[in-house]
Amino acid sequence: MGKKILVTGGAGYIGSHTAVELQNAGYEVVIVDNLSNSNEAVIDGITRITGIRPAFEHLDCNDREGMHKVFEKYPGIEGVIHFAASKAVGESVQKPLLYYRNNLVSLMNILELMQEFGVKGIVFSSSCTVYGQPDVLPVDESAPIKPALSPYGNTKQICEEIVRDTIHSGAAYRAILLRYFNPIGAHPTAEIGELPLGVPQNLIPYLTQTAIGIRKELSVFGNDYNTPDGSCIRDYINVVDLAKAHVVAMNRMLNALSDEAVEVFNLGTGRGVSVLELINSFERATGVAVPHKIVGRRKGDIEQVWANPDRANNVLGWTAEESLDDTLASAWRWQEKLRERGIM
Ligand code: UD1
Repeated sequence: MGKKILVTGGAGYIGSHTAVELQNAGYEVVIVDNLSNSNEAVIDGITRITGIRPAFEHLDCNDREGMHKVFEKYPGIEGVIHFAASKAVGESVQKPLLYYRNNLVSLMNILELMQEFGVKGIVFSSSCTVYGQPDVLPVDESAPIKPALSPYGNTKQICEEIVRDTIHSGAAYRAILLRYFNPIGAHPTAEIGELPLGVPQNLIPYLTQTAIGIRKELSVFGNDYNTPDGSCIRDYINVVDLAKAHVVAMNRMLNALSDEAVEVFNLGTGRGVSVLELINSFERATGVAVPHKIVGRRKGDIEQVWANPDRANNVLGWTAEESLDDTLASAWRWQEKLRERGIM
C-alpha cells in the first residue's frame, strides 16, 4: 500500500484530477467532500481512469467531530491536500460570512487534526487572486499581496496566513501553498472535468456550453482594457498539469526535500492569453464556432495577470506541458461527453 493522502474537496474539479494523479503515482487516496458543488459520480470517474476506487467520505470539513472520525478510520494519513472551499467570487460578496466560515473553519479543523494525528504535510489551494492587479508582469512569488477584491479572495489570503502562523508556531509539519492561475480543460479520457451547477461564472464552461448550444452567446466582458486586443489577459493552465504539481509538492514534503517548512509556488504556464485569443484558439482547436459579443466590463475583474513560473519550474521541478489548443480540445470533449450521457 502506498502512502495515505487525505484529499478534501476531492470530488471537485481540481481535486478529482489530483486524486487521479496521486493514485497513478502510487498514493492511497482518501477523499472527503460535502458534494456541495459536485456529485458522487465523480468517484466513479476516478475509478474508471485509474482502476482503483478511492475511499470516499461524504462529509463537511467544518464538521470537526466528523473529521476526527475520518482520521481515526484511516490511520496513518501522511499528507493532506486541502481543496475543499467555496470559490464563487460573486456569491462571496453576497454571503461573506458563509465564505469566511466555510473556508477558514475547515482549514483550522484540518490543521488541528494534523497536529493531533502526526500528519507530515499539507498542500493548500491558493490563488493568483492574492496578487490583485500586479505592478510587474509576469508576477512572481515575491510580488506584494494586494488588498482582496472579494471575501473569497480574502479567505485565500487569510488561509495562507493561518498556515504560515501555525507552522511558525512550531507545528511539526510542512506546508506548500500553491497559487493557481486559471485552471481549465478536462482529463483526456473525458471521464472527469469541470461541472458547474447552474449558469457558469467562469469563462471555459460558459464557452463550451455556448459552443454546444446550451447558451445563446458568450459575453466577452470588456474590449477597452489596456491590452493588445482590449480584452482581459489570464494564464490558462491545464488541469491535469496542475494536478501533477500537487503530486510533486506532496513528494517534496514527505521526503523533506526542502529546508523551508512553508513554501509558495505559482502554478501557471508563464503565458498570458486574452479572452478573444482564447475564443480563436478554441475555434481553431475544435473547428466549432463560439457565438460571442462584446459587453461591458465585469465588476472586480483584473485587467491582466500571468505567472512567472520559474520557481515551480526550477525549485519544484514541475512545468506545465500541455498546449492551449489540446487543453481546449479536452474541455470540448468533456462537454460532448456530458451531452452523450444526457447530463447537460
Ligand atoms: C476568478 C477569480 C479567481 C478564482 C477563479 C475561480 C477574480 C479576479 N478571480 O478568476 O480568484 O480563483 O475565478 O472561480 O475574481 N470572462 C468573459 N465572459 C464570461 C466569463 C469570463 O469574458 O462569461 C472573462 C473574464 O472577464 C476574465 C476571463 O474571462 O477576463 C476569465 O474569467 P473567469 O474564468 O471567471 O476567471 P477569473 O475571473 O480570472
